[in-house]
Amino acid sequence: MADLLDKFRNIQKVHQHVVGLTGRDPLGAPFEKMLSPTQAVIDGKECVLLGSNNYLGLTFFDEAIEKAKTALDVAGTGTTGSRMANGSYIGHKALEGKIADFYNMKHCLLFTTGYQANVGFLSAIAGKDDYIIIDADSHASIYDGCKLGDATVVRFRHNNVADLERRLKKLPEGSNKLVVIEGIYSMLGDRAPLKEFVRVSKENGAYVMVDEAHSLGVLGENGRGLLEEAGVEDQVDFVLGTFSKSVGTIGGFCVSNHSEVENARFLARAYMFTASTPPSIVASAGATIDHIKKNGKELMKKLWDNTAVVYPALKELGFKVGPEMTPVIGVAMPSLEEGIRVWNTLYENGVYVNMALPPAIPAGKCLLRCSVSAAHTPEQLETVVKAFTAAKHAAEAAA
Ligand SMILES: Cc1ncc(COP(=O)(O)O)c(C=O)c1O
Repeated sequence: MADLLDKFRNIQKVHQHVVGLTGRDPLGAPFEKMLSPTQAVIDGKECVLLGSNNYLGLTFFDEAIEKAKTALDVAGTGTTGSRMANGSYIGHKALEGKIADFYNMKHCLLFTTGYQANVGFLSAIAGKDDYIIIDADSHASIYDGCKLGDATVVRFRHNNVADLERRLKKLPEGSNKLVVIEGIYSMLGDRAPLKEFVRVSKENGAYVMVDEAHSLGVLGENGRGLLEEAGVEDQVDFVLGTFSKSVGTIGGFCVSNHSEVENARFLARAYMFTASTPPSIVASAGATIDHIKKNGKELMKKLWDNTAVVYPALKELGFKVGPEMTPVIGVAMPSLEEGIRVWNTLYENGVYVNMALPPAIPAGKCLLRCSVSAAHTPEQLETVVKAFTAAKHAAEAAA
């Protein structure tokens, strides 16, 4: 019989194989010094960061840093408990109000991370006899939220409206249904056909939730994500979001116009049984959201201008990129070994990208997951294109 620790031993073998291919560990690169939102010293080498989710480049936004420092002085380093037990700091409530205002919605619940927002909200809202219908390519936090709850989970084929409709029609008449969709998918960077998804969901009596983790500050005239771009803000029931990407810090939230949602605080275990967001994070998130409200259009223009440099260049070089141009650029690799070699050539040419392996993506696949930032300079984008060109030449020479 397998020993309890065999799982770890088996994964250790895979990890050793990955590191053995180039002598470097793409899953544990040591970031020794951050030089800017888009540059760091990694294992002794200066690299352009092309995998950071730092879409608006706001991790060094000076006002956010100042406000975080003041909050540390005034309110300390942490809350040391959940809001149920230790109470809500004034900043928690104010930030919830700010996010609700940003989305023009009435209610907001703050979670400590985006992962917890999905896990907490999904496990709380749908119970026995209810159905959660999710896209097959959903983020792990959506899958985990479903696992923690008692609802029946139905998967539909990625971005396939007809498949969603077919599956909705099969569910018992009068049953409670929640359809869960993402704005921009985190690995391949494709948008959901949200307008059509909302239409078939509503026609079949389902509530709709959209996870805008990668589309807040990226899509929509005011950065409110795919629901703003698709013109369905008044039809989506729940919006999930995170501060860990465009907002440049950490935290998650759920906004809605349904007043009942306020009571999820008493049901969502990932809200009740974990420490709340520290005051410095609350302060920096608030400052950055104000900044996005004021200057988001300009930042988003830079982001999309930069995306229009990287995506077509990689496509032209023959890399297998996602089906549409967004700042999330997933580059599919033919094998794990090839993926590691390309990752290493990019690193040697001064570019760091994220290596995505199962379970973040389907078994047997390997993806170099890139993300463009508004803060990338023209010189950094040139370094990126040169590094991918070098990787392509190296792959051709090895073939
Ligand atoms: C679609 C999606 N939802 C939720 C999350 C979780 O967000 P966080 O990192 O803030 O916990 C992520 C993280 O990458 C994500 O891609």
